[in-house]
Amino acid sequence: MADLEALRSRALDELAAACDDAGLAAWRSAYLGRQGAVIQVLRRLGELPAEERRVLGAGANALRDALEAAFKERKTEVERAAAAALEAGGIDVTLPGRRGLVGRLHPITQTERDMLAALGAMGFQVAEGPEVEWEYYNFDALRIPEHHPARDTMDTFWFDYRRDGRRSMLLRTHTSPNQIRFMEAHQPPVRVAVPGRAYRYEATDATHEWMLHQVEILAVDEGISMRNLKATLTQFAQALFGRDRPVRFRCDFFPFVEPGAEIAIQCGLCGGAGCRSCGNEGWLEIGGAGMVHREIIENVGYDADRYTGFAAGFGVARVAMLRHGIDDIRHFFSNDLRFLRQF
Ligand code: PHE
Repeated sequence: MADLEALRSRALDELAAACDDAGLAAWRSAYLGRQGAVIQVLRRLGELPAEERRVLGAGANALRDALEAAFKERKTEVERAAAAALEAGGIDVTLPGRRGLVGRLHPITQTERDMLAALGAMGFQVAEGPEVEWEYYNFDALRIPEHHPARDTMDTFWFDYRRDGRRSMLLRTHTSPNQIRFMEAHQPPVRVAVPGRAYRYEATDATHEWMLHQVEILAVDEGISMRNLKATLTQFAQALFGRDRPVRFRCDFFPFVEPGAEIAIQCGLCGGAGCRSCGNEGWLEIGGAGMVHREIIENVGYDADRYTGFAAGFGVARVAMLRHGIDDIRHFFSNDLRFLRQF
């Protein structure tokens, strides 16, 4: 009888400590289950003389009934406490789960990669150059000397540092300095694409940013002519905008090419008729190009009687805007997730 009493008080202590479904279930099987402590007592009754068996049997049955009742009561208590916790705002298990944030590539990066992939398929290797550039590579070597009016079209961020009292450093205003850098470091034939940022000290508006991404293209070899330029750049533009998209070349001037050209694609909205999106032009400019100036071929030490080349520079944001119908270049780097999540 003393053992039964000890068992009862141990069971009730443990029951009081059970505070969730799992704890209750474990307690129930430990004390009231098929292999539980109470059954073990009842099983041993057969070994006892009749009188003791009667007394102990009654005690064990009473213990079982008491534990059953205590269990029911504790279970109700635990359920009430859980419901109260829910109501107090603990957790609502019926709410849908929250998804983790998944990163993605910036639309400029996506477009830049598409451009490089198209060029890679045509045999161009990829190279890069510094964003902080010498005045020499950004301007002089490209036939844009000091006081030349072409410098005015590229308002420049200058550094207050002079190598030899004359030459300055700057944030490159275009990726074209890499034409010189690459030719200085490699012998022809050259097929290279150079992606990168450029900077211009100018007011921003819907089509101008002070930081821009460009992809520069350079091909130098024997017998390269304007027809290679047109064929390559047409194929490149059509890889980006579709094989049926008309591409237009018109005369333009850049000091480092001769002849120079502007490259435009037909407006996809109006099919060339002119609409608001193309400023009634029917065409949208995507880059500049031209035959590398003979003087530049000579200056990098190539044999200008043997080698000719073409170069081009494309605005990555321009291409991205036309492909996705984006009407303001400032969206790209305003870091508004509502914009960025669309790509
Ligand atoms: N660098 C010129 C610009 O940024 C584009 C260009 C590149 C033109 C190569 C001709 C050849 O405006």
